[in-house]
Amino acid sequence: MEKFLLLLVLAGGCHAFLPPTETKCDANQDTSPCSPVVGGSVCIKLLNNATNYKLKCFKDDLQFMYFYRGNLDIVEAYKNRTKFFIGTGTLKITNVERSDTGQYRVERYDPDGQRESNIVFSLQVKEDIFFILVIACVALGAVLLIVLVVCCICRKKQQNPKEVRQRQ
Ligand SMILES: *[C@@H]1O[C@H](CO)[C@@H](O)[C@H](O)[C@H]1NC(C)=O
Ligand SMILES: *[C@@H]1O[C@H](CO)[C@@H](O)[C@H](O)[C@H]1NC(C)=O
Repeated sequence: MEKFLLLLVLAGGCHAFLPPTETKCDANQDTSPCSPVVGGSVCIKLLNNATNYKLKCFKDDLQFMYFYRGNLDIVEAYKNRTKFFIGTGTLKITNVERSDTGQYRVERYDPDGQRESNIVFSLQVKEDIFFILVIACVALGAVLLIVLVVCCICRKKQQNPKEVRQRQ
């Protein structure tokens, strides 16, 4: 029971070093690819205010979102984990998957229906290094614990002969 508690404390201690796994990117300013972590979330600012715009979002040339006159249409595969904040023109994808890596393109049409330049960005999903660190940290704790237990057993074994002799 004590060992189990110690492991829990170790895991908790390691977890305290975890930074939030939300990645923020700006499609108009960032020059490097946006790099969210697997299982995390990512917010991509597409434009300042989408209210009066018509937008079509593509990933690797497959359309996954359509926004027009306040109506948002997201394909089934993205529905559960995709949000679009109209007032701030921000696209949020939660529960990021490795397969989200790719090239993204947003076609935008101004209030008069005139096509403006595309918004482009790329996602480069990476492994959650901090999660791996937590696992490594817990594993290290477990190894230390085993060493400790083995040491105790060894000491007891060494002490036992003395006890026997003292009794004699
Ligand atoms: C989205 O969530 C609903 C309800 O939780 C579920 O039935 C559906 O299978 C999910 N769709 C995808 C593509 O994950
Ligand atoms: C976005 O634009 C609309 C209409 O122009 C306006 O009503 C709304 O307040 C704006 N939203 C933000 C967050 O600026």
